[in-house]
Amino acid sequence: MAELRRLLLTACAVFLLLLALIAVCLLPPSHPLSISTLSAWLRPQADLDRILQETAMPDKTVIITTLNEAWATPNSMIDLFLHSFGTGKKITRLVNHLLIVALDEKSYERCLSIHLHCFHLKKDGVDFSRSEKLFMTPDYLTMMWTRIDFLRQVLEKGFSFIFSDADVLWFRDPFEYLSPDADVLMACDHYVGDPWNLTNEANGGFVYARANTRTVNFYKYWFMAREAFPGMHDQDVFNMIKQGKALEEIGLQMQFFDTKYISCFCQPSDDLEKVVTMHANCCFGLESKLQDLRRILADWNRYQLATNRSEELRWSAPKSCLQSSKVLESSEMLH
Ligand SMILES: *[C@@H]1O[C@H](CO)[C@@H](O)[C@H](O)[C@H]1NC(C)=O
Ligand SMILES: *[C@@H]1O[C@H](CO)[C@@H](O)[C@H](O)[C@H]1NC(C)=O
Repeated sequence: MAELRRLLLTACAVFLLLLALIAVCLLPPSHPLSISTLSAWLRPQADLDRILQETAMPDKTVIITTLNEAWATPNSMIDLFLHSFGTGKKITRLVNHLLIVALDEKSYERCLSIHLHCFHLKKDGVDFSRSEKLFMTPDYLTMMWTRIDFLRQVLEKGFSFIFSDADVLWFRDPFEYLSPDADVLMACDHYVGDPWNLTNEANGGFVYARANTRTVNFYKYWFMAREAFPGMHDQDVFNMIKQGKALEEIGLQMQFFDTKYISCFCQPSDDLEKVVTMHANCCFGLESKLQDLRRILADWNRYQLATNRSEELRWSAPKSCLQSSKVLESSEMLH
């Protein structure tokens, strides 16, 4: 008899639990008790805080890159990127402070198999995995803007960062080249010779931002400004707003990196004694990028092994990228 009562009570409890579950499921997604709100509240934020803590240097600085499926396949971009830390000058340790932000399931899995600090950034209803093939499509743009919004969150949590695209090779320690006066330091497609001059053509593929109120406000403003320039990506919008009143009001101290150090295919540094990073921009297509970055890495290795310093070593790249740029008439397509 007691057993039967216990059984009935259990059945009752299960039934009530089911009812409650159905009720929660039926709530609109915006309701504070709905499934999506509850799970969003429980999951990604807590994860990101923990991962940032684990990845950051003692002074709360992290290195961040983003990754999608196309760049995550074995022997592709992410492998070259990680490899460059190993062949660079005393920068192997920096990998311990690198957070790889995966934008799709496959790149997240690949990240977990090759790296210690991985974060899966999810955006409902958008497939980032094929973005390499879909340059400047709505999904591509959403991916770029998701990145800006993510970096704003990192700053809000009190972490400074160097953001580096994965098609940037690292040779020396860029932290030795940060100006203490700057809130934000940005790489250039074309450097005009003065780090403070706002006519420098910015490249968002390599950026340092110091966590403070000004940088948080700047990233908020930058993200908001996308609505004023629909169909444009973050870098172009930045070049539109950089000389506006808003950045002056925010009080942001903005500087640009000299391409002699933070270099790129648009304006390659010719000095291997000075080059810190090399970005495969001004290039179209994954294959062209990979070919030229491999040439650059080989040159770097020759330079490191050379015993005769007076022997002049020059980059043998970009070649494929120059070709890829010529094929495309529209300079809009270069990134
Ligand atoms: C910035 O650079 C441009 C182009 O080189 C130049 O014309 C301009 O005078 C510079 N502005 C300042 C404030 O130095
Ligand atoms: C080093 O390279 C320079 C320039 O190529 C050459 O003139 C010189 O003879 C080389 N020295 C040695 C010791 O190989």
